[in-house]
Amino acid sequence: MSTPRTILTVFGTRPEAIKLFPLIHALEDDPRFRSRTCVSGQHRGMLDQVLEIAGVVPHHDLDVMQPDQTLDALTARLLTGLGAVMDLEKPDVVVVQGDTATAMCGALAAYYRKIPVVHVEAGLRSGNIHHPWPEEVNRKVIGSFAALHFAPTETAAEALRRENIDPATIHVTGNTVIDALHWITARIAQEPSLAQGLAGLEQRFAGKRIIGMTSHRRENFGEGMRGIADAVKRLAARPDVAVIFPVHLNPNVRAVMNAELAGLDNVALIEPLDYPHFARLIAISTLMLTDSGGVQEEAPALGKPVLVMRETTERPEGVAAGTARLVGTDADRIVAETTRLLDDTDAYEAMARAHNPFGDGKSSQRIAELLADRGLAG
Ligand code: UD1
Ligand code: UDP
Repeated sequence: MSTPRTILTVFGTRPEAIKLFPLIHALEDDPRFRSRTCVSGQHRGMLDQVLEIAGVVPHHDLDVMQPDQTLDALTARLLTGLGAVMDLEKPDVVVVQGDTATAMCGALAAYYRKIPVVHVEAGLRSGNIHHPWPEEVNRKVIGSFAALHFAPTETAAEALRRENIDPATIHVTGNTVIDALHWITARIAQEPSLAQGLAGLEQRFAGKRIIGMTSHRRENFGEGMRGIADAVKRLAARPDVAVIFPVHLNPNVRAVMNAELAGLDNVALIEPLDYPHFARLIAISTLMLTDSGGVQEEAPALGKPVLVMRETTERPEGVAAGTARLVGTDADRIVAETTRLLDDTDAYEAMARAHNPFGDGKSSQRIAELLADRGLAG
């Protein structure tokens, strides 16, 4: 049997961990690979929540997170730290996911060492370098030199082809987030206590319609976040509505949301939920109000309408199918669009359809097969 190929998977934030744990499981179970993992620790608590539930114990942890970190200081720490791990591990291939600073620096450090880079969730494009910021540029940087591009959908693959990327290096695999959702749903079915921590809130808000909410985008800091908070305040003034909002640990988010929303009867500002509890939050919600990327994929897959508090999206598939709608960050517009879904049954039913253009839950296995098949050069 030939020597297993050493794959170093590099990640650092909550969404990367969620979307990569199914692939790490697949690589670990496959004798064709020697799976190594490096977390940057760009996130700390929110990353650790995912590592724990997924049972992933990283081989390297750079622990780079600083409170209220700036993009340039973070990038400098990531680039040098990740490069040093690659010098130690000498992997055959480096895998990165998505568009974070960790993904971009992991890819760049590998490129500097002529190690082939594999990009999971490749080809997402909003067409606007300021929305989402800085992610649109991060993913274009990675896409410009990755050796293999695993696009979640045909739309994403087409975006890469339009950038003149060699079509032979582009594969449509589905998004591993669906693998993660299937895995967590099965875990909860086996062990229901994993997702019962919201019972107190479910009791407190019994009879009300729950809006599940997240917000963290850097480009929304300032005016955008204030618009979002104002909208939530107005929606929660309705007696038949309750908002459950696990607040991202970024201090720029917490400062605004605590100042505007703390103490309101129909708003629960809570700590970030682990993945089983977040899946439960989607399940008990009438609709999701979010500026998150991953939630735009998960909510439609679970049949919940999602109102996206952004001006553009690099995930147009949900919008095209009518299960997601872009509502920006203007308070009047968010309130109007949410009210329409709450009060107009036909409008609600038209959006509340299970729709999943993002994968069949077998993306990780598909990626593992492609990694085994393809010879790669740096
Ligand atoms: C990062 C990613 C973004 C991704 C988001 C997912 C970049 C540039 N941004 O944004 O693409 O959508 O993660 O959530 O890569 N913090 C904690 N504990 C944590 C996590 C964050 O305290 O577990 C606080 C720290 O003060 C940290 C700050 O949040 O400095 C910002 O974290 P950072 O990763 O730089 O940015 P995010 O806004 O989380
Ligand atoms: N999520 C979670 N707990 C929370 C909020 C979100 O587990 O309290 C999960 C969610 O299911 C999705 C991912 O985190 O898979 C999205 O992460 P985030 O919004 O931080 O980043 P983005 O997807 O916007 O990059």
